[in-house]
Amino acid sequence: MTEIAAQRDTVFERLSAAWEGRAQVRSFRWDTAPAWDQTKDDFLPELLPFADHPAFRAAPAADRERCLAAAWLAWNENQVGFELSIVIPTCVRLMQGHIPGARTPAIWATVSEALTDESYHIVLTQQGSEACREHRGLRHLKIPRSSVVTACERRQAEQPEEWQRDLILLAATVVTETVIHAHLRMLSYPPESMQPLHALVNRVHYLDELAHSGLFRAVLKASYLEMTEPQREFFASILPEPVRWFADWGFEQWAAILEQIEFPRRDEILTEARANRQVVDYSQLIKLCEELGIDAARERLVAATTA
Ligand SMILES: [Fe+2]
Ligand SMILES: [Fe+2]
Repeated sequence: MTEIAAQRDTVFERLSAAWEGRAQVRSFRWDTAPAWDQTKDDFLPELLPFADHPAFRAAPAADRERCLAAAWLAWNENQVGFELSIVIPTCVRLMQGHIPGARTPAIWATVSEALTDESYHIVLTQQGSEACREHRGLRHLKIPRSSVVTACERRQAEQPEEWQRDLILLAATVVTETVIHAHLRMLSYPPESMQPLHALVNRVHYLDELAHSGLFRAVLKASYLEMTEPQREFFASILPEPVRWFADWGFEQWAAILEQIEFPRRDEILTEARANRQVVDYSQLIKLCEELGIDAARERLVAATTA
């Protein structure tokens, strides 16, 4: 075994050794969770793409309340979508040995643990939506699929080669695991005005994701080392794309949601939110690209997100 391969396996062995004690699926209990509280916000208002719009701030309390409840449901649906269509398929392809560099028992053990975590997050987020759907009268709210997921599927479908589709999955997973981190952390430790039950659901998810960010970075490094030159070039060209998908995410969903809950002045709110869309923080990705030796990572990411 080469020195690099030995170091790599040590990283995965360390992650694996910690799994038993860290994995929330092994320790979280719903029967100790706080009850859902009618008086609390179901979501953090500052994470809405139109949080500062005067028409949102001036909306009647009941509309604002339903909007935050819908935001919680959409957040959870999106988490399920990312797990089901991006992260879990990546874990499966890694475990089947289709992605370069991920062919050691140490990587397989760690990825199978992550696969278990992600499957549990689907259960967790679905259960975490229940009380809110019921008590806020949103049982029939229909949330369109995340545009990040549909963009990922579309780009995969456009590729003629299986390895290209696999590398799109890998890129989308690394970006997803990086980009959702900040919002997940904010929702995990929110002010007291936010629903304690929802903070707990996020915290449980976040504790697993803290380990995943290191895991998928290590998987990518192991994989990149063994990619061929055309694979490396393809990967470098595709990596900025999921960042752009995240910059655009949510607006189509929000248009459908605000219409269903009949939110006042919704067209005006969304037009302005689109024009002032939030910037995605991709500083961690730049660091990762530099560690990998991907040339002009910053320029590629800037170009993708300002296009
Ligand atoms: Fe997850
Ligand atoms: Fe994850």
